[in-house]
Amino acid sequence: MTQNLLVRTQKTPLRGTITVPGDKSISHRAVMLAAIAEGTSIIRDWLPAGDTLATLTAVQQLGVQVEIDQKSPLAWDLQIEGRGLHGLQPPTQPLDCRNAGTFMRLMAGILAGQTFPSVLDGSYQLRKRPMRRIMDPLAQMGAKISSNSGFAPMHIEPTQLNGFEFQMTIASAQVKSAVLLAGLYAEGTTRVIEIGPSRDHTERMLAAMGVDITWQDNWVEMRGKRPLQPLDMAVPGDPSSAAFPIVAATIVPHSEITVTNVGINATRTGILDMLRGMGATFSLLNERVSGGEPVADIAVRFSELHSHTINGSVVVRGIDELPVLAVAATQAVGETAVSDAAELRVKEVDRIGVLAGELKKLGVAISERPDGFTVTGPSRLYAAEVDSHDDHRLGMSLAVAGLATHGLTLVHDAACMADSFPGFVETMQSLGANMELIES
Ligand code: S3P
Repeated sequence: MTQNLLVRTQKTPLRGTITVPGDKSISHRAVMLAAIAEGTSIIRDWLPAGDTLATLTAVQQLGVQVEIDQKSPLAWDLQIEGRGLHGLQPPTQPLDCRNAGTFMRLMAGILAGQTFPSVLDGSYQLRKRPMRRIMDPLAQMGAKISSNSGFAPMHIEPTQLNGFEFQMTIASAQVKSAVLLAGLYAEGTTRVIEIGPSRDHTERMLAAMGVDITWQDNWVEMRGKRPLQPLDMAVPGDPSSAAFPIVAATIVPHSEITVTNVGINATRTGILDMLRGMGATFSLLNERVSGGEPVADIAVRFSELHSHTINGSVVVRGIDELPVLAVAATQAVGETAVSDAAELRVKEVDRIGVLAGELKKLGVAISERPDGFTVTGPSRLYAAEVDSHDDHRLGMSLAVAGLATHGLTLVHDAACMADSFPGFVETMQSLGANMELIES
């Protein structure tokens, strides 16, 4: 049985106020770090999505006790009994990361510092994603990790780690975080120099847990070997999930929506800046700090969009949102060119090649380049059958595109949307979106 999504032309405005589920990056990190803290952590509004459930199951396999209050299908409260830096139990089988690249790469940093061997494995998709980017710097810290020619499964052997200075060559918060988490177990100082700022959730959380860590725009320095204090936090709504209803409201005429309680950490708001560059306007209301992260309610309305050139640091700050940005570009006047985004090619799927292939089926004028794409708009979109390729963000981007097509769009393989955004369809329906899940 597969789930497909039927999307009809959106002839009425999207209206209403919604919340989106918790931030995926923060939910992964909160569970992993709470597992190695001293004492009981409380994590509210945690994201129960496919990817983060892999993390939760895996820490339980490492002997961590978790009490779960499933207060809603979209937000759980967790109470996690931390076992300290050295209290995890050896797993009896490989840890299954499913589709979660963030979990696999970050957990490799923690497991590299343990006194027992472990294996990290994942889905067929995750087995195709590059792991040398973390294996190489971790090896420089002394880690012993073998792999299938740079791909999962990764076999990790116990060893003593040492801090070092790591000059990054790609912009990746996952790589930075893997090194920082290994740094918790390392002798001396661990220093990471980035080629540009990437999301800093690991740094913020480690600081909140009492780790000796300092960071600025493109460097971070920490000292390990100290116990972590437990967390008491609420996870803010994921700006990467909010991007889908936001783009939908921007392109469906007369729409006006508010997404409440969204994380607006400056390392994550690239999508808002890119859309502003295309003529969209937002109001950020009720700005506050929650769980050590800046949060706001985002009000957005339909805008006439124009093209924009997207490159440089905004790309890292909105890397996961570029597929849905491409959908906004289909409705913008002119050529929207995205470059410096070669990382898109090594996400859940090749998010340049596959995106271009699927959008072309809807009549979008999109051309690929090695590190990005160009969309020429505005396009009259024609209904077609498209495929998520088992990639949550591609599936949801195609669903948003479907609202602007003439006729009936069928998005094949929609179940993957719950990897990051459980309740995506219901949330969009609550705004009046013309979409429904069908089983076949
Ligand atoms: C993430 C970092 C990004 C992002 C991914 C989540 C994280 O990946 O694309 O969805 O939580 O650190 P990279 O670090 O590989 O760019």
